[in-house]
Amino acid sequence: MVTLLVTGAARGIGHTVVERALARGDTVFAVVRKAADASKFSQDKNLHVVLMDMADTASVARGFGEVDRILAGRPLNAIVHCAAISIPGAIELTPVEEFEQIINTNTIGSLRILKAAIPRLRGHGGRLVLVTSLWGQASGALLGAYCASKHAIESLADVARRETKGMNLRIIVAEPGVVQTDMLTTQGPAAQAHLERMQPAQRGLYGNLYQRYFKLVSNPSGITSEACAKGIEQALNDRRPALRYRIGADSKAVCMLNALLPSSWMDWVMGLSLNHKPLSK
Ligand SMILES: NC(=O)c1ccc[n+]([C@@H]2O[C@H](COP(=O)([O-])OP(=O)(O)OC[C@H]3O[C@@H](n4cnc5c(N)ncnc54)[C@H](OP(=O)(O)O)[C@@H]3O)[C@@H](O)[C@H]2O)c1
Repeated sequence: MVTLLVTGAARGIGHTVVERALARGDTVFAVVRKAADASKFSQDKNLHVVLMDMADTASVARGFGEVDRILAGRPLNAIVHCAAISIPGAIELTPVEEFEQIINTNTIGSLRILKAAIPRLRGHGGRLVLVTSLWGQASGALLGAYCASKHAIESLADVARRETKGMNLRIIVAEPGVVQTDMLTTQGPAAQAHLERMQPAQRGLYGNLYQRYFKLVSNPSGITSEACAKGIEQALNDRRPALRYRIGADSKAVCMLNALLPSSWMDWVMGLSLNHKPLSK
C-alpha cells in the first residue's frame, strides 16, 4: 500500500493523478489551496485533503505538519508536485510583479516542496516527482516567466539529487509537452486580454507575436491528463527510474532538438510556430 501526496490536486494533471491513485487503493494526500475543492474528489476513506498555498512558506509547513499527524510515524512513499501557474506575456510588457508571482509559486514553491520532501522521503526509497515541462528545457516566446521558473526547478532537482546521493530517496523530473487542461485553455484568453490592453505602439511591435500565440494555443492539441498521469506513474513505479521523463511526442522532440541544435537554429525552429510571418487581418 502506497502513501502518496499530490500537489495541484484540485484540477488538471494533479487531479487525475489523485483519482487514479485512489482507484488503485493508495492512501492519498490531495493538496489544494481552497477548502471548497475537497468536494471535487471521489468519496474515499483513503483520501485526505490538505490545504497548502505553494506561494506561502508557512502554509506549506502547516500542510506537511498535518500530513505528519495523519501518518503518525508511517512513511510517506511519494510526492508528485504539480501545482504551478502560467501567464503568457512578452518580457518587455510583463510587470515585474507578475514575474515574481510566477517564480514564487512555481520555483520557490518547488523549493518549499523539496525542503519538506527530502527529510520525509529519505531512508526508505521515497520518490519525489517534480512536474516541470518541455519549457524546463527549451524556451518559448511569451513564456519568459514560466520558462525561467521551470528551468530553475530543473536545476534545483539536479542539485538536490547530487546533494542527497546515498540517502536512499529519488528526485525525478517529469517534463510533459502540451496537456489538455485549464493551463492550456486559459493561455489564449490571457494572451488576447494582454493584446487588448496594449498601446498602439506596443501592438505594432508585439501584436503579430501575440496573435500567432493565440492561434497556436487555440488549436486543440496535446495529450490528455490521463496520458500524462500514466507517464508520471512510470516515474513512481519503474524499478530503476530515469532522472527525467519526457511525456508526449512534442516534449521528446523539442527537448531533443534543444539539446542537439545551436541556439540560433532553435530560434528558427521556435519561430516556425510563431512570428515568422505577419498574420493576414
Ligand atoms: N497543461 C500543460 O500543457 C502542461 C504542460 C507541461 C507541464 N505542465 C505542468 O503540469 C503541472 C500541472 O499543470 P495542469 O496543466 O494540471 O495545470 P492546471 O490545470 O492549471 O492546474 C494547476 C493546479 O495548480 C494549483 N495551484 C496553482 N497555484 C497554486 C498555489 N499557489 N498553491 C497551491 N496550488 C496552486 C491550482 O490550484 P487552484 O485550482 O486553486 O488554482 C491547480 O490545482 C504544472 O506544473 C504545469 O506547469 C502542464
